[in-house]
Amino acid sequence: MSLDAWRKTLDSLRQDGLLRSLKTITGAQQDHVSLDGMEVLLLCSNNYLGLADHPHLIEAQCRAAREYGTGSGASRLVSGSMGPHSELENRLAQFKGTESALLFNAGYAANTGILQGLMGPDDIIFSDSLNHASIIDGCRLSRAKTLVYPHGDLDALESMMVREAPHRRGQWVIVTDGVFSMDGDLAPLPGLVTLKQRYDALLMVDDAHGTGVLGENGKGTAEFLGCLADVDLHMGTLGKALGGFGAFVAGPEILMQYLINRARSFVFSTSLPPGVVAAGTAALDIVESEEGRRRRQRLLALRKQFVENLANTCSVDVHGVTPIIPIITEKPEVTMDASAWLQTQGVFVQGIRPPTVPEGRCRLRVTLMATHQTDHLLRAADLIREVLNL
Ligand SMILES: Cc1ncc(COP(=O)(O)O)c(C=O)c1O
Repeated sequence: MSLDAWRKTLDSLRQDGLLRSLKTITGAQQDHVSLDGMEVLLLCSNNYLGLADHPHLIEAQCRAAREYGTGSGASRLVSGSMGPHSELENRLAQFKGTESALLFNAGYAANTGILQGLMGPDDIIFSDSLNHASIIDGCRLSRAKTLVYPHGDLDALESMMVREAPHRRGQWVIVTDGVFSMDGDLAPLPGLVTLKQRYDALLMVDDAHGTGVLGENGKGTAEFLGCLADVDLHMGTLGKALGGFGAFVAGPEILMQYLINRARSFVFSTSLPPGVVAAGTAALDIVESEEGRRRRQRLLALRKQFVENLANTCSVDVHGVTPIIPIITEKPEVTMDASAWLQTQGVFVQGIRPPTVPEGRCRLRVTLMATHQTDHLLRAADLIREVLNL
């Protein structure tokens, strides 16, 4: 590529309505933020439980920074393994009910590292067609054979497994988002558990959007669907409902030991700052408390109210249980025009376009937070109906 080619690509993205740019907000991830000097309702943050500016997390982060400093100084395997890292790993293993857990620097680094680390050319990864980009990249890095099954289609997945079984050589893994990030629907985990048992595979669930949000105790999609103990590898992130930054995988001790030795994004990267890690532990305190339960209940109640105000007019799922609500707009221009108009009305919702979603599946991706107020959400739903002529 050359400078000229890069410029041409950007021009053609602009022409197709697909050019992306940054929007800077002022203030914390609260229900309202300042954007371009205007106060707007924030409807596109993954800070689902509203913990990103919670005093308990801020206090824990400041305390750890005072005690341990701002940086960890090295990768975990050199000198960057500190008290807060192992404390959080122990808490995460307890939380997900596994032998062990391991921190990664972000969800992207976790998915690429786990799949690259554990899987190799003799192995097969069965991957849902709507899995997150970091899973797709992890599959590529692993050099394992990757078979993509149609979204949530257990029959299609089983047919693939039946076809592959006679010439099986290595390990099999089924990998899926728990909550799909752009659609907010759930993976059919009980059915996937049946298949992984029937065909002797491991099941890895990326619960970036379910952890903290779903289940009686916030343990995620698998708890909500009653199969927490049947998942082999629980990947989760600390940057969404947990209000901080970073990610983890929880599972059998031997696999954690293997990843410590083989996951390149773990081995070759400076570890998370101690303050960030301490905020993760503080977030778990809240998630597991009565306050966490109240926040989850409120989030679900807000979802119901918001969706009811849209329900008869567009294709939102009235039975959904997650704070992710996609409003399909199909074309990029319609999507971005709607997003821009909503901003003029004081509502910040991002338009989502390819390659994040398939062509023709552009959307306004509304995400709710437990800190939202009903009247603000109802007004936003009215405005969305107005701009999309629903
Ligand atoms: C399903 C899913 N997995 C992984 C990630 C990556 O996590 P992180 O933002 O911590 O890199 C995201 C989103 O960012 C996601 O939506």
